[in-house]
Amino acid sequence: MKTVEPCTLVIFGAGGNLSRRKLIPALFQLEIAGRLPPRMMILGADLAEHSAASWRTAVTGMLQAPSAGPLSPDLLERFGARLHYHRIDAEGTHSYAKLRDTLECADLFPPNIIFYMAVRPADYLNVVGGLGQAGLLAQEHGWRRVVIEKPFGYDLLSAQTLQSGLSKHLDEPQLFRIDHYLGKGTVQNIMVFRFANLLMEPLWNHHYIDHVQITHSETLGIEGRSEYYEGAGALRDMIQSHLLQLLAIVAMEPPVTMTAEHLRDEKVKALKAIRPIPQNAVHAHAFRGQYQSGMVDDQPVKAYREETGVAEDSTTETYAALKLFIDNWRWAGVPFYLRTGKRMASNSSAISIRLKHPPQDLLRLARHGPAQANWIMLGIQPNDCLKVEMQVKEPGLEFKTRTISLDATYRKDDETDYDAYEELLLDILQGDHSLFLRIDEVEAAWRVVDPIIKVWSMERDFINGYAAGSWGPRGTYRLFDRDDQFWRHSLDIEGADLRAF
Ligand code: BG6
Repeated sequence: MKTVEPCTLVIFGAGGNLSRRKLIPALFQLEIAGRLPPRMMILGADLAEHSAASWRTAVTGMLQAPSAGPLSPDLLERFGARLHYHRIDAEGTHSYAKLRDTLECADLFPPNIIFYMAVRPADYLNVVGGLGQAGLLAQEHGWRRVVIEKPFGYDLLSAQTLQSGLSKHLDEPQLFRIDHYLGKGTVQNIMVFRFANLLMEPLWNHHYIDHVQITHSETLGIEGRSEYYEGAGALRDMIQSHLLQLLAIVAMEPPVTMTAEHLRDEKVKALKAIRPIPQNAVHAHAFRGQYQSGMVDDQPVKAYREETGVAEDSTTETYAALKLFIDNWRWAGVPFYLRTGKRMASNSSAISIRLKHPPQDLLRLARHGPAQANWIMLGIQPNDCLKVEMQVKEPGLEFKTRTISLDATYRKDDETDYDAYEELLLDILQGDHSLFLRIDEVEAAWRVVDPIIKVWSMERDFINGYAAGSWGPRGTYRLFDRDDQFWRHSLDIEGADLRAF
């Protein structure tokens, strides 16, 4: 276990959604787990007025989510003693000098400081600029780290512009670009699965793998985030970031070591090897859709265009699917299908890998239907699991085959399930960049989706619809290379081949 030095965490946007829903609860979980250093202060910074006491009350409210259960008074007191508040004035003019004065009260605030940008992306540069001008990013008396949330830009050019603004004040090792998917247990487990088991490596290439599917589906809609989502859409919101990161981890070569730079070197190589999609081939490689009204969990839900803040004629995609090829020695010719959607039939994130059929179909008379291929599946959520589907002989006197699933649901009942933010916050405290994005990874991911963004933003007359509560638009099947390929909607054998919508 790495040690964590005494430090101060400053959260900009401390009263906002991300801080309330994710950061503060995650910090509290780390407190419960005894992983916060004894000398650590948490300074909330935001526009609202708060006294120290009212801020502590507000934070306690953030912890009392129903799932959190009863809170121990001792723990609350220990956590409460770390909490401080700094009001930012709306113009920001004097805020940073005042913040510096507050932080320089060295007896209270350790000089190693993390600045967490839980603010709108449009404010990243203002805040970092303000901190830089106030001298708060200079590492003279301790280290200074800055955490940037996604989205990092809205296309390649804007990401590069953001980066050049940040690099006026910060060096790359000071920056932690978050993709919270990398903090999920199963995502890290992909690396363990691949690199700690010799069994897999010989199969992990185009000789044996037919195709790879990476799916993230949600039953939720946009949850009141129209201002952000209208400009983003599913491609930027999920694929450019989370799903391409999953692809990189599945596809990368074994790194020299598991250190941050070696790991990120391999991920970026995989991302760079993705075959660019020319604008005139976008329709063959990408499909978008938007949810219409429908039923989710037996409740009627409205169409995307009826959500508050969404334009009546919006063509923003709430569903996106992509076919990508990785042009390298390992993956030549293997399609990687990625899809994500809001208001879908179920909540599920998974990687499903279908293997090729054996070279000769010796058992065609011993089965009921077409040949079934092996699948290797890594469930990310709601249950993290590992499943492998194989063919066996049915018990009995007949020589018949059936598919079985080797189900390695590996979490034991008494094992704690940590949220991605707990893992990632701990890594930031420890200065470990392994699960954070390097700028070349971000750029490579934008290069993959930029041509699609361009074409979709020009084609604003029409978007395919899908009923809320379904598995997305029908036309998405045309992405598949062959007729026997289909979206895997479930990791269970029974639900696997649900071609119906
Ligand atoms: C966020 C997206 O990054 O990830 C959301 O902005 C999405 O739209 C969310 O719902 C999904 O994350 P998780 O952890 O709930 O799978």
